[in-house]
Amino acid sequence: MRQARTREQLWSQIRPWRAAGQRIALVPTMGNLHDGHLALVEAARRHADRVITSLYVNPTQFGAGEDFARYPRTPEDDLQHLRAARCDLAFVPDDAAIYPLGLDGATLLRAAPALAGILEGVVRPGHFDGVVTVVARLLNLCAPDFAVFGEKDYQQLLVVRRMVEDLGYPLRIVPVPTVREPDGLALSSRNRFLGASERTAANRLSAVLRDAADQAGQDGADHREVERVALERLQQEGWRVDYVAVRRALDLGEPGRGDRDLRVLAAAWCGQTRLIDNCPASGPDPAAHPTAQA
Ligand code: PAF
Repeated sequence: MRQARTREQLWSQIRPWRAAGQRIALVPTMGNLHDGHLALVEAARRHADRVITSLYVNPTQFGAGEDFARYPRTPEDDLQHLRAARCDLAFVPDDAAIYPLGLDGATLLRAAPALAGILEGVVRPGHFDGVVTVVARLLNLCAPDFAVFGEKDYQQLLVVRRMVEDLGYPLRIVPVPTVREPDGLALSSRNRFLGASERTAANRLSAVLRDAADQAGQDGADHREVERVALERLQQEGWRVDYVAVRRALDLGEPGRGDRDLRVLAAAWCGQTRLIDNCPASGPDPAAHPTAQA
């Protein structure tokens, strides 16, 4: 596996691939790789001839008081994982490769407010502006044919897909389902912050979301009630809940009676650790249940 740190190193690696007509997939990550990331690399391999994985903890997507300084950085382990996963190129940019004019001189993007200003965007204002800013830069630098994102960060996936569509990037976004521990906990770099008893309790988030998704998919479900019950269950178990929401999978809008493709999304604190997760829910088939049609 090759490595690039600067823009020039990256371009000199990519140029011959392009000249040979090879298709390139980019897997943007912040490092501290786990099996969830490796599933992204695997998906990238299925779509493209060459896989680039970027490892960069992006400062612009962390708000004041968030865990930028504390975010786990494990570059040597990451490179080893990527070699084993047969990634072709690890792009480990220094700040100058991503923000050559520094943060004060940087041109910052603003994510589509209707999508980025809800749920995570309410609790972490500006977060998705930082995400689209860095993802656009990575796309510009790598010019991939495919970019791979996990469904674990479902709102991020939609925000990035919207940016790609809106700004006209000639590439396809490949979504990859969430990888989970055997007890249901979604893999996340932040899981390592969980203490032993918190780790035992952490699987409750996915369990509550699964139940909520089952209920949300029932004919005539009251989505507000589903959200209320899920919130109450988590609170009773000692979680501090930022949100639980039943939304349209397509655009995270409030679902109407005819909407079938739903997602239940949540963010909540297990002790000192903030976890996010989501679960798909299929509403009733309007053809099979004519009463469900508004
Ligand atoms: O999901 C992540 O790890 C980050 O938000 C991303 C997409 C790599 C941008 O920094």
